[in-house]
Amino acid sequence: MHVYALSLEKGGCGKTALAVNIAAAFQQLGLRVLLVDLDSQASATHWLGIDPESLHPDQSVLGVLNDAIQNRATAASVLRRVRDTPEGISILAAHSLMASLPAQLTSAPLGGLFLLKHVFAELARAANTYDIVILDLPPARGPVLAMALAATTRCLVPIQPEDLVMRALRALMTSVQQIKSNGVNQGLQVSIVRNKYAPRSNADRVFDQLLHDHYAVQMAQTVFPIRAALRDSAAMQQSVFRYTGTDASEVRALFLQLIEELMVLDGRV
Ligand SMILES: Nc1ncnc2c1ncn2[C@@H]1O[C@H](COP(=O)(O)OP(=O)(O)OP(=O)(O)O)[C@@H](O)[C@H]1O
Ligand SMILES: [Mg+2]
Repeated sequence: MHVYALSLEKGGCGKTALAVNIAAAFQQLGLRVLLVDLDSQASATHWLGIDPESLHPDQSVLGVLNDAIQNRATAASVLRRVRDTPEGISILAAHSLMASLPAQLTSAPLGGLFLLKHVFAELARAANTYDIVILDLPPARGPVLAMALAATTRCLVPIQPEDLVMRALRALMTSVQQIKSNGVNQGLQVSIVRNKYAPRSNADRVFDQLLHDHYAVQMAQTVFPIRAALRDSAAMQQSVFRYTGTDASEVRALFLQLIEELMVLDGRV
């Protein structure tokens, strides 16, 4: 089971846009995908057509993590909380009460660091569960990020060409390095995915060179330009694989190319 976490402390860089559509792309290939919305803003949940406030908090990720805190998370207890979005993507939804999750984790044993890892180990042991798990993370450091990184195979970092992003990227790389060097998750990998790029703009070319100078090895080949489909499909509560408006087919092809890259790096499941 591959676990991909969309992470960066900077808001609005495309974590949710990529999480939702990478999940949809893997599903197009016939793989069994679970999207986990770890952001109390519940953007991914909402994007795919589920009203987060219609759920009891126990039916969201919170229920799963509370079970894990009490050491009683099983594959069955996780699967009971998984819902199908209108386009058939399996999701563990977020809930606004997750705003208190960092405090809850801080008071859990070991800061809750191993809770998700344990949950995914339970899922991986069960028959016919998931090939791929996608985590959508909030724009924050702290215990939720640490718990996610402990359970992740590869961090996917959407980068838009802005100066402030480089600081957030360095901070994330430090968190990744800590998780690797203290032995929590030595195999953790990182891929940087350029998003909202205008490849012909001079400023973006300069930014690109800066990224290459520091992170050439981690950079994914697939680059996402600014496209209406990625903005407007959210309002329609659809992935670009369901959405049929302007640019949708171009953006779909880019997501398929990105997951092909991931499968070359991590192996097919
Ligand atoms: N390549 C793109 N072209 C056009 N719009 C985009 C693109 N990528 C993302 N967007 C839009 O930009 C906005 C911010 O993206 P998104 O919500 O994915 O960011 P985020 O990193 O998840 O933000 P947050 O940190 O607040 O969770 C959304 O409205 C999204 O639809
Ligand atoms: Mg988001």
